[in-house]
Formats: sequence, structure tokens, C-alpha cells
Amino acid sequence: MPSSDYSEIKIVNDGLDTKDIIRDIINSKNQEDAFHILNVGEVVSRQKFWKENMPRVTPYFAVKCNPNPTVIKILAKMNGHFDCASKKEISDVMKYDVPGERIIFANPMKAPSQIKFAREVGVDKLTADCEHEIYKIKDLFPEAKIIIRFRCDSKITCNSLGVKYGCDAKKEAIELIRLTKSLGLTLYGFSFHTGSPCGDLTAYNEGIKIAKNLIDQAKAFGCHEVCLIDIGGGFPGESDYDLNQISNVINESIKNIDPSIKIISEPGRYYVTAAFVAVAHLFGKKTVIRDNEEVKMYYINDGTFGSFIEELLMMKARHPISLNGAKSDKKFLSTLWGPTCDALDCLIKNEILPDFEVGDWLFWNDMGAYTSSCASKFNGFHPPTVYPFIQKKDLITLKEEISKNKKV
Ligand SMILES: Cc1ncc(COP(=O)(O)O)c(C=O)c1O
Repeated sequence: MPSSDYSEIKIVNDGLDTKDIIRDIINSKNQEDAFHILNVGEVVSRQKFWKENMPRVTPYFAVKCNPNPTVIKILAKMNGHFDCASKKEISDVMKYDVPGERIIFANPMKAPSQIKFAREVGVDKLTADCEHEIYKIKDLFPEAKIIIRFRCDSKITCNSLGVKYGCDAKKEAIELIRLTKSLGLTLYGFSFHTGSPCGDLTAYNEGIKIAKNLIDQAKAFGCHEVCLIDIGGGFPGESDYDLNQISNVINESIKNIDPSIKIISEPGRYYVTAAFVAVAHLFGKKTVIRDNEEVKMYYINDGTFGSFIEELLMMKARHPISLNGAKSDKKFLSTLWGPTCDALDCLIKNEILPDFEVGDWLFWNDMGAYTSSCASKFNGFHPPTVYPFIQKKDLITLKEEISKNKKV
């Protein structure tokens, strides 16, 4: 891979820590705006881990989770596969010479123009979960490979995707199998998504069992091309999460599946959560009295309309780390606000925090999933710039992985 292919990625010495990298960016760029750093080595190692530990399951990176061009490019170079939900995501992936066969269009409800576009560019794996979508595909892309999505929710998840997509696996899925057959379409397989993130990995076991059973039934109806199980996303991605938990459950669940059946997944947060750190500048501070108590109010230049939508949705309450450490051990009742003039732009409300100062830089680890991808330009504050870096040892691994793929 020529070095010009990744000129935006800064190569750094092994052993540099997050704080070193952040300080270097602040000093060398005279930085004031909020930004993210992207550890490319983390994405490389996640791809390597998946391939080595779950070789039977081909992961399709869910672009929606973080469509950062460097992430897409690196996975494309590592022979990665992609789950796209829109024309724009498909185009962003195809920029890196990814052919249509390595993409699944996994949005079960697609506008006609989007289906036509998929046909034009050769993305032929399409999901659907209702009759109307199947008729649409019949009209616009009759040679597509249809994947029927059924509902299979984890008992523990803060974002149950089953409330929006996925047919009932017992009755509706059978009706859809019959419909594809009667319309002369290609039924290719079945998919499910346990929720994002999946808090109870046994849900995959359940989904795989249901999909296996649906394949048997589809074959009995004469759908001879059916050959795919798509186990979706939801795999946790935090830096302290033991990835072996995922591979143990998945490998156990698929061990008796006939080798003629292809198995794929759509991990988003698994790939990117730990790879990104969000960094923000504290530019304002005041002390107010609320309910007879003193509260310190801090204002930083990233917020719930930027990287922290999960705070807005009350899904997370993440505390920052101060780049230079607190000046004393004293802590105070505090509220941390984002930069916009909206009172919903609040990251932390009335919690005990260290005594920060104006001019401090704060950072949060594990900020790659559903952060910048959901950020808006509200009030003129743009999503944070991303600075990618790679350690020398990870660059060697990346090159080795790319050359292994070339040999295959
Ligand atoms: C169809 C589909 N696949 C995959 C994903 C990725 O999920 P996660 O980031 O939890 O792995 C999503 C998330 O919304 C999704 O809707």
C-alpha cells in the first residue's frame, strides 16, 4: 500500500498514550475547536480479531455507526464488507473500490430511488420485512437477493430495533417466504438485529435457531437459492469489553449449521467504539445558586447536538477526564453544558465533578459509536474534526493483513 494512500493518518511512535496524542494536536494546530482522535490500530485489530476468532461469520461494517472516511478506507483495504442503509452510504463505500458483492443494503424500508440506485451499482443483497417492500423490489429490482428480517430482541438493550423493523418470525415470515416464491423472486436468506447494544448475548443463539428453521421451511416451499443467515449488529465495543465473550457465544450458536449456509453479521459499535476519543475545550464557567445550593456551571464546545446525542436521549451519562488533571481534590455540585443556546444541550446535570478551569481540555474515551455520525450543525457548531493516527506496530499489522488478503 503506497504511503500516499493514507497520508491523512499520522504515524506515531509505539507507546504514546491518549494524552500525548491530544496534547500534540492542541499544540501543533493551535487548536480551539472540539475534535476527535481516531486510533486506526484499534479498527485494524477488531477486523483481525473477528476474522481469526469467528472465521465462519463475515462481518459487514454498519457504516451508520461512524461513516468516517478513514475507517471505511482501512476496512475496504482489509477486504472488509459493509452494511449500508442509504444511497449516500453505498457511494461513500464504493469510493474505495468496494464492489457491490461486498455490500448489503440492510435498510428494510427503502425509497424507490434508493432501490434503483442499488440496482445500477450492483448492490443486490436487500433486506425487507413486509409485503409492500417485496412488491417494490419486484417492480424495481426483480433480480435482487432478498433477505427477510424478522424480530428477535435481546431482553437487555437500550435501543430495541425490533420496535421499528422485523416481521414476526412465526406467521409473517412464512407469508413473506410464500410471497417471494409466488412472485418468482430470489429469497436469499434471513436476518435479525438483537438491539444496539445487545446486553444479553444469548439473543443471538435464539435468532440463529429461528433463522435456521426458516431456511428449512423456505427450502420446503421450493426456495432453492436460500442460503444466508445475517445475525445483525449489537456487539459491544468498549475498550474494557472482553471480545472473547462474543466469539464464544457466536461460535457455539453456529457450530451445527450446515457449511453450505453462509453466515454474515453487521457490527457497527464493535469496530469503532474504542477507536475514538472525543476532546472538548472548556470556555466558560460561572457559579449559580439553585435550590439554595451552589452549582458550578461549565460550558464546553461539544454537546448533545454534537458528539453526545446519547446524553440527550438519556441513554448515557459519561464523565470527562481532564487532560491536565484537577488542580485540587475538591469536588463540587456541577452541570456541564454544550455550546449551543439550547437548554437541552446538557451533558451532565447536578453531579459531583472536580473543579475545572476555563481553558481546560476534557476528553472521553470510547466515543466512536453514534457520536459524530449523529452530530448536527445546530447553532453553527460543526461536528468535530477527526484526527486519525496509527502506531508503528499497528501499521506493520495493517500492511501484513492487507498482503494476506491479496494472497487469498
Ligand atoms: C440493520 C442494522 N444493522 C446493524 C446495525 C449496527 O448496530 P451496532 O452498531 O449496535 O452493531 C444497526 C444499527 O442501527 C442496524 O440498524
